Amino acid sequence: SIERTLILIKPDGVERQLTGTILSRIEAKGYRLAELKQVSATRELLEEHYEEHVGKPFYEPLVEFMLSGPVVAIIAEGHRVIEGFRSLAGTTDPTTAAPGTIRGDLGRDWGLKVQQNLVHGSDSTESAAREIGIWFS
Ligand code: CMP
Repeated sequence: SIERTLILIKPDGVERQLTGTILSRIEAKGYRLAELKQVSATRELLEEHYEEHVGKPFYEPLVEFMLSGPVVAIIAEGHRVIEGFRSLAGTTDPTTAAPGTIRGDLGRDWGLKVQQNLVHGSDSTESAAREIGIWFS
């Protein structure tokens, strides 16, 4: 069935001027860009978005990283887009993410406390609804 997912191009993707490349991969896969905006996140917004990671060792570096520059927030729409975008993004660690994926082709491990892995995609229909509400309220 037609789903919607929340995709973020993280500050490393925007800084490296990969926005167009990443958007074109999403579109080439056949997904529709239903909403699109460049925004500067706030600590409050990120605390909601990453609530499941609060307290983990990478949480504070993750928030600092996400505050380090603008992000592009996208609602993408399509049949099985939640699963499909996660497949397109590749696994969390860009070093071992499969070639052909966004993280596998364009990402690298910078040896930092947090994975700067270019993109985020919701992992379930529940997270998608929750995250869309946070970024597009
Ligand atoms: P994302 O899927 O957007 O949500 C959580 C983020 O935390 C993840 O992308 C990575 O950027 C980062 N992350 C997750 N696990 C780790 C880890 N083990 N070490 C460092 N960063 C991580």
